[in-house]
Amino acid sequence: MSRIAYVNGRFVPHAEAAVHIEDRGYQFADGVYEVIAVAGGRPVDETAHLDRLERSLAAVHIRPPMARQPLKLVMRELLRRNRVRDGMVYLQITRGVAPRDHAFPATAKPALVLTAQRAKPVQARRAASGVKVITVEDIRWRRCDIKSISLLPNVLAKQMASEAGAYEAWQVDADGRVTEGSASNAWIITEAGEIVTRPPDAAILAGITRAAVHELAAREGLRLVERPFTVAEAKAAREAFLTSTTAYVIPVIQIDDDKVGDGRPGPLTRELARLYDAHAGASAAALASS
Ligand SMILES: Cc1ncc(COP(=O)(O)O)c(C=O)c1O
Repeated sequence: MSRIAYVNGRFVPHAEAAVHIEDRGYQFADGVYEVIAVAGGRPVDETAHLDRLERSLAAVHIRPPMARQPLKLVMRELLRRNRVRDGMVYLQITRGVAPRDHAFPATAKPALVLTAQRAKPVQARRAASGVKVITVEDIRWRRCDIKSISLLPNVLAKQMASEAGAYEAWQVDADGRVTEGSASNAWIITEAGEIVTRPPDAAILAGITRAAVHELAAREGLRLVERPFTVAEAKAAREAFLTSTTAYVIPVIQIDDDKVGDGRPGPLTRELARLYDAHAGASAAALASS
């Protein structure tokens, strides 16, 4: 079956999907995006993702190219055409096509692209066995709360992880504190049993998975603290994990050359992963009946 993409109002074969060379996304990374997980054929936490998309658009002064309701219908249709049951949808909105000039063009029409993809089974194996992360300097800008398509520092960080045989790179600010991964949020569980993650300030992306895990943990009465943590603290933690739309909850069993805890996925992390899996399924199923 051939993949189908959505480009500016049309469903087209993925292999033929294209935008103009003067699209400002291509020229300036002038755009924002979202990645939404799909479970049982339905988007997970759709409302939270579309809320964040609108926040990102507003922050960079791009007009939404389409209202929320038709956008949801486009997503549904794309999933149907690609027969995605478990996987993800990618949405990208750029400021559109205009002659190259840094300032906003007066007339460009925002461009909307969506693609859909089936889940990679390798993810489940990682969730079971845990992953290694490395730490790298955070060289990004000061508006990491915007889900901008300008991802070069994240790309470089992930490449360093890849070359080091690690799954992710935890970025570290000038004070030695972990901000987040190149494409995920970072968490630790201290010896005292506190679940710690950085508050959603401009140094990180406020992950939708992060918010869901936060809420699930709070509901279970677990001890949660939103505060920055250092690399040293992370290495001394009892457990560590990362969260993202595509990864869900993945245990971190090694940071640089140091094992986390006994070097195996911790029990509380596994419990949070289980709770999140159930949440993802339920969130998507709720849409099916709405
Ligand atoms: C830099 C960064 N932080 C955090 C996340 C996790 O966010 P979410 O849970 O919404 O996928 C992502 C996801 O791609 C990301 O790119």
